[in-house]
Amino acid sequence: MLRKVMFFLFAVLVIIQFFHPAKNDSKDYTKDIANVYPVSDTIKKILEKACNDCHSNSTNYPWYSNFQPVAWWLQDHINEGKNHLNFSVFATYSLKRQAHKLHEVAEIIEEEEMPLSSYTLIHKEAILTKEEKNALINWAKSLSHQINPNQTEKEERD
Ligand code: HEC
Repeated sequence: MLRKVMFFLFAVLVIIQFFHPAKNDSKDYTKDIANVYPVSDTIKKILEKACNDCHSNSTNYPWYSNFQPVAWWLQDHINEGKNHLNFSVFATYSLKRQAHKLHEVAEIIEEEEMPLSSYTLIHKEAILTKEEKNALINWAKSLSHQINPNQTEKEERD
């Protein structure tokens, strides 16, 4: 009985290797935040190494993403991250949404919620230094106010 179960599980593991989610690697940067707003090289570097794998249309896939079910698990994070915030299509958001999202970026960094800890566990380079965090927070806050100077306290919060 146990051998049958083991064999069945092994067969499933082999079969699912043939099913891969489509890769997240669009090369269209026309609506990218860096194409429509000032993003310094310092900020670009931070976003690239710590955020863009899940918040843009181009993910740098690690080698183990070639295995299932890991690929599905990663894809799930990517899809969810992009649903909430996608820097590659930032220019398509309404101005109000853009300002709000940037405010959330500042907040989420201040509260140390991002990058996800399951991500920094493997991507050590994504652990941000104090200077990098401050640079990101200042950039996000000031751009947020530049885009929507009339933000109410409430909009900033929720
Ligand atoms: C491993 C994937 C991953 C990485 C890397 C990552 N995020 Fe996220 N992010 C998510 C997911 C998933 C969510 C939605 C669920 C949640 O809030 O936990 C999210 C949510 C957010 C939100 C909230 C948006 C909203 O509408 O609620 C912001 C802001 C954000 N991330 C900013 C960042 C920034 C800035 C970085 C880089 C410093 C970053 N994230 C790195 C996966 C990621």
